[in-house]
Amino acid sequence: MIVLGIETSCDETGLAVYDSDRGLLAHTLHSQIKLHAEYGGVVPELASRDHVRYLLPLAEQALQQAGVSKHELDGIAYTAGPGLIGALMVGASTGRALAMTLGIPAIAVHHMEGHLLAPMLEDAAPDFPFIALLVSGGHTLLAEVQGIGQYQILGESLDDAAGEAFDKTAKMLDLGYPGGPILAKLAEQGRSGQYKFPRPMVDRPGLDFSFSGLKTFTLNTWQDAKQAGSDDEQTRADIALAFEEAVVDTLMIKCRRALRETGIKTLVIAGGVGANLRLRGALQAMVEKENSALFYPRIEFCTDNGAMIAHVGCLRLQAGQQEDLQINTRARWPIDELEKI
Ligand code: KG4
Ligand code: ZN
Repeated sequence: MIVLGIETSCDETGLAVYDSDRGLLAHTLHSQIKLHAEYGGVVPELASRDHVRYLLPLAEQALQQAGVSKHELDGIAYTAGPGLIGALMVGASTGRALAMTLGIPAIAVHHMEGHLLAPMLEDAAPDFPFIALLVSGGHTLLAEVQGIGQYQILGESLDDAAGEAFDKTAKMLDLGYPGGPILAKLAEQGRSGQYKFPRPMVDRPGLDFSFSGLKTFTLNTWQDAKQAGSDDEQTRADIALAFEEAVVDTLMIKCRRALRETGIKTLVIAGGVGANLRLRGALQAMVEKENSALFYPRIEFCTDNGAMIAHVGCLRLQAGQQEDLQINTRARWPIDELEKI
């Protein structure tokens, strides 16, 4: 079965062609970073318009790269949520219309399920059951995954998502957008041990997260440095590193707790913050001590992309699921409401 996947939930237009027999055949991506940079964050209306501009050319490019004609497609998968509603509508309505004109089924894909199963796009794919740490700009959650659509949420962020905390903290440190990768790059110049930041909620039982206090702590530290006249580049890098270490350490502690509490020996990390190398390193060191294994997608499939949507769409279409002609997009969509297959 050959499926075209469409991702337009936020600030990335992603298209991909996935074949159930041969795997991923092609994927194309247009990032809107430059478009939103001057505003310091995503402007929803601009995002929607840009998706309109790039979606069809990128679809044609992906089909061409895959060597597949649109008439060979067996289905179309589009992200239906969660995300920016206008942006989602562009991909969903185009996907639905394309499927109708080609006389093939369409399937609405949950963006976070796309992230969660993205490690399966790699040659070394994890087996069920596994613990998944999903860390993106909009979500931070730990889930026990028994199979496709079987997601039991073990813990989630009570306030900011990890990526959101990175982005907001970067803004406070007068860094640009998107904050996560810029802050991580600056942290490479930081000196460890210059500042000690709190590890939120690690002393309490449970697997929930909270990052907003850490964000405020960082702001106060930076403002104190400014008042003391020591707000130079080195101090900014030291603070960035202290913040990153605190987030990474907190995520690592909660993942270790989830592995120990469930007895599951496989950990999967997915979502944009999964591209963070310090996080990958810390989790790798932890799983080795716990006699467990760590799986993650390649960097480009941690952040938003069409491949993860084509992949999940293909799995669900193969299981016989499909949408009727109605287009339902959802800004919010709890992942544990998904149907198991
Ligand atoms: O999964 P994603 O591309 O979009 C959402 O579904 O939200 O995640 C984007 C988030 C942003 O908050 C971005 O700052 C963060 O992932 N991110 C990173 C890194 N690369 C992306 N955070 C920390 N370190 C990185 N290297
Ligand atoms: Zn995402």
